[in-house]
Amino acid sequence: MSLNPLDAEAIRASLSPTVAAALGPIQVFRQLDSTNCWLLEQGRSGDVCLAEAQTAGRGRYGKRWQSPEGNIYCSLRWHFDTVPPQFGCLSLVTGVALAQALEQVGLTGHGLKWPNDLWHQDRKLGGILIQTADVPSQVVIGIGLNVQMAVDTETPIDQPWCQLSDLLAFLPDRNHLLGVMLEQLVPALQRFPAFSLPAFLPEWERRDVLNGRRIRALSGHDTLTGVAMGLDSRGWLRLRDPSGREHAFSSADVSIKL
Ligand code: BTN
Repeated sequence: MSLNPLDAEAIRASLSPTVAAALGPIQVFRQLDSTNCWLLEQGRSGDVCLAEAQTAGRGRYGKRWQSPEGNIYCSLRWHFDTVPPQFGCLSLVTGVALAQALEQVGLTGHGLKWPNDLWHQDRKLGGILIQTADVPSQVVIGIGLNVQMAVDTETPIDQPWCQLSDLLAFLPDRNHLLGVMLEQLVPALQRFPAFSLPAFLPEWERRDVLNGRRIRALSGHDTLTGVAMGLDSRGWLRLRDPSGREHAFSSADVSIKL
């Protein structure tokens, strides 16, 4: 099925007045190196950058995010007047907002792989990359979501992945979906300065796809395997190793051991 092109006006028209007022211009590009890079270089708080394709999409841990046409590549630049002590939980909050947006368009069975991957039945559906800008308290939140990938057979994706077109009987228009995503994300960012992890944790926990699974966590030069045990009071991932010892990670590259 061919997709409608991304359309800034259609996205803006779908937003509530409060969310539209919180946002700056929505820029749409046919192709960019990376929507995150573009906003880091020239964006202002509230600006949104979208691209139909990226030539140098960035993933976490310096990995490349393959970005052929057909998906969503979206970045939002955001300024916080007050940054909460649990700034590290911003990625968790972003993940929950996106999971809620997907629920709204009818998706079921998806979850979050700590810290913020969108996951569906052991396959990656989307990823989030949060980068800090030079200006204090400003971040760029980048979202890659597989919608209907124009598969590049030359450079296959090196992990199991899935896309919305295979998961939904009715595939929403990407402009509508982006509107729904921004409607969830912007209020979550507005609430974030008053963030309370205990109040937020249940929202995360009911979507946690790692809990109780055997995982491998790569952190710095260390690799640990064990069973994922949910999050601790800081939002760090808990892992119990085979000797019964518990570890917690503030950041790690985690894979599920199948
Ligand atoms: C991950 O490794 O899971 C994070 C992937 C984030 C990809 C998105 S696509 C839009 C934005 N621009 C980028 O270059 N990266 C993010």
